[in-house]
Amino acid sequence: MDSFILHGAVLFSEDVRELKEYDDAYVVCADGVCQGVYEEIPGEFSDLPVEDFWDKLIIPGLADLHTHAPQYTFRGLYGDMELLEWLDRVTFPEEMRYDDMDYAARAYDLFVEDLFTGATTRAAIFATKHTDATLLLMDMLEETGLVTLVGKVNMDRGVPHGYCETTGESVSETLRWLEEVRSRGYRNTSPILTPRFTPTCTDELMKQLGDLSGRYGLPVQSHLSENLDEISLVSRLCPDTRFYGESYDRFGLFGTQGKTIMAHCVWSGEEEIELMLKNGVYIAHCAQSNMRIRSGAAPVSLYLDKGMHVGLGSDTAGGAELSIFSAMRDAVLSSNLRWRLYDRDVRQISFPEAFYMATLGGGAFFGKTGTFKKGYEFDAVVLDDDNIQTLYPASPAERAERLMYLADDRHVVGKYVRGCKLY
Ligand code: GUN
Ligand code: FE
Repeated sequence: MDSFILHGAVLFSEDVRELKEYDDAYVVCADGVCQGVYEEIPGEFSDLPVEDFWDKLIIPGLADLHTHAPQYTFRGLYGDMELLEWLDRVTFPEEMRYDDMDYAARAYDLFVEDLFTGATTRAAIFATKHTDATLLLMDMLEETGLVTLVGKVNMDRGVPHGYCETTGESVSETLRWLEEVRSRGYRNTSPILTPRFTPTCTDELMKQLGDLSGRYGLPVQSHLSENLDEISLVSRLCPDTRFYGESYDRFGLFGTQGKTIMAHCVWSGEEEIELMLKNGVYIAHCAQSNMRIRSGAAPVSLYLDKGMHVGLGSDTAGGAELSIFSAMRDAVLSSNLRWRLYDRDVRQISFPEAFYMATLGGGAFFGKTGTFKKGYEFDAVVLDDDNIQTLYPASPAERAERLMYLADDRHVVGKYVRGCKLY
C-alpha cells in the first residue's frame, strides 16, 4: 500500500444520482486510502509523488458482482436458449471439465488474464463444484492483486450424474476448501458460500450451508428469480415457501447472517423485494445475460428508488462479455426497452445510475470502496480515450458515458487496487 497522487480528469459517484467531475484534478491516496479529490494539492500532501496522466480520465475501479469463471470458455455462444435448457445442454457439461486440473489451469488462465486487463478491480466469482480447481483459480487471482470473492459451487440435486455431489460430499468438500483457503493465507482472495440455486440444492444442503455461514460469518452468493420456468420449478420443489427468496431465507442464506448477493431478480415480487430490502441483500443486475438467455429485464430503477443495494454483474457466459462498461450499457438499454415495451411504471435508468451501480453500488459489497470520497479504499482505473476521435467537446462524465459504449481493454492504461499499482 502506497501513498501517491494521480493527476488527470476525474469522475466519481457522490451518491446514486450525482456524479462529481473535474477536468483537471488530483486524487490523493495515503497508505491505500483515498484522501479526496482536489483542484490544487493540499499542503499536507505536498511531499507525495505525483503520477501525471494529463487529460486521461481517472475513475474508481469497477465491481463485477456476479460472474462464472468456468463459463468464460464459451462466452459469446449459445444466445438461443432459456436458462434451464442452457444449463443442461451447455453449462453443466462444460463445468464438468474442470475435474481435469490441466484443463482448469489453461481455462482459468484466460479468464484471470482478461479480468486483470479490464477495468474491474473487485469481483464475486462462481467456480465449479471442484475444490482443487477452485483453489487453483483462487491462487491465480491472488497473484493479480485484484480483490475477489470466489465460491466453490454447491449442488446436490438436479445436475447430471458426474457433476452432482451428495449432500455429505458437498458439505465435507466445502469444509476442506475453507480449511485449505485459510492455510494459504491469501491477502486479496476470500471464500464466499455458493449454493448454486434452489433447484440444485436440497433443503438439507441449504441448512448445512446456512449453519456454516452463521458459524464463520461467511458471505453468500446465489441466483434468484431469474427465469419464469425456474421460478415455477422452485415453487414445485419448495411448496411450503411463498416466494423464491424464502427458500434461502429460511436457512439463513438471505442476508441475515452473512452479506449476500443474489444475481438477477428479474421477476421478484413485492414480498421478495421487501425481504431483500429488510435484510440488506445485494442485487447483481446482469442485463446482458438476462437478454441473451431470454430471462427478461429487471426493474432496476425500482430497486434503486427503494434504496436497495444494487451492483452490476457480467454473468459470463450467460453474458458474453466480462466488461462492466458493457454491463452499464446493457443496464441502460434494457431499461429503455423495458419501459417502452411493457412497464411505464418503472422508469429507465440514467447514465449516472449505471455508473453508480458499476462503482459504488457494487463496490459496497467489498466494504468502503467504489468512490473517491475521503476514507474509501483506493481503487482506480485510468482510461485513455484519445482514439475516440471526434470534434464534439465532452466533459469527464460524457467521456465516461461514451466509453460505456465504446470501451475495450485497450482503453484501460492504469489500474490501482487498495493503493497498489497493478499496471
Ligand atoms: N442459475 C443457476 N446456475 C446458473 C448459471 O450458471 N448462470 C445463470 N445465468 N443462472 C444460473
Ligand atoms: Fe449466474
